[in-house]
Amino acid sequence: MTQTGEFKDRMLSLGLARVSEAAALSSARLIGRGDEKAADQAAVDAMRTQLNMLDIKGVVVIGEGERDEAPMLFIGEEVGTGTGPAVDIALDPLEGTTLTAKDMPNALSVIAMGPRGSMLHAPDVYMEKLAIGPGFAPDTVTLAMSPSERVSALARAKGCTPSDISVCILERPRHEALIAEVRATGAAIRLITDGDVAGVMHCAESDKTGIDIYMGSGGAPEGVLAAAALKCMGGQIYGKLIFRSEDEVTRARRAGIDDLDRVYTRDDMVTADVIFAATGVTDGSILAGIKREVGFLTAETLLMRSRTGSVRRMLYRAPVRP
Ligand code: FBP
Repeated sequence: MTQTGEFKDRMLSLGLARVSEAAALSSARLIGRGDEKAADQAAVDAMRTQLNMLDIKGVVVIGEGERDEAPMLFIGEEVGTGTGPAVDIALDPLEGTTLTAKDMPNALSVIAMGPRGSMLHAPDVYMEKLAIGPGFAPDTVTLAMSPSERVSALARAKGCTPSDISVCILERPRHEALIAEVRATGAAIRLITDGDVAGVMHCAESDKTGIDIYMGSGGAPEGVLAAAALKCMGGQIYGKLIFRSEDEVTRARRAGIDDLDRVYTRDDMVTADVIFAATGVTDGSILAGIKREVGFLTAETLLMRSRTGSVRRMLYRAPVRP
């Protein structure tokens, strides 16, 4: 993976906010309507249209799927006007399609951009993830530790007891043993039904969200997006790809991954400075969801640049077009 420097991140960041805003606003009419596919499609269409207005030579490295599976925003799709800096783009127009369809918390529209070659081309397989917020020494917790060792290590680093720690975990049958081991430490667990990009981001604002650490497996593409978010917010994330079939190994090799057992740090997944935008679709602990009033929709967007550590929260009140 090569790494380049400047990519006009300062000015492009404002354009990036419009991209996640457009996707979130477009899926708004499908919140709580029970139709995951339609909600996702609305977000994808709007994100792509908006992205293609940016003066970039963009390539989607984390997208809606491989070229033969996704008609739009597929991995390798070139986006932007074709003039301007060469950039990599990681996106999820609707992170939490089921959350949106059921009007449950923490659905987001997310996108990250960095110079060409700056983001891990993660195949669509699972990734074992472990994340904590900023202010801790490197390797305070590691994937090599057992879940209970991680809780104890984090409690020691925070100067508290394991029962003061809150762990965020996706509620899945595959996490039963993990959940039981964490519970035995006395730590609290916030089980989420979907949306682990938000789950990881929660660790970076633990005062606000009450979450100290994220553990468990979820989508590898979401792992790269979460790494981009933590690169801006501070915090550590580790990820290890999980392969359940030969086909998944083939996908990984096709994506350029040689070492199948590698543990990726945040800066391995995102090797240069990036910009990151997320807009709330449904209400959550990090972002408010889309608010409706007659004739208007309001969207809240978090826009961040890792180079400067700048964080903007923006409210956009958009007239509803007939
Ligand atoms: P979608 O938005 O595609 O529905 O994904 C939501 C999500 O919960 C991710 O946040 C997470 O990484 C992944 O699905 C977990 O996958 P699975 O549902 O297979 O456990």
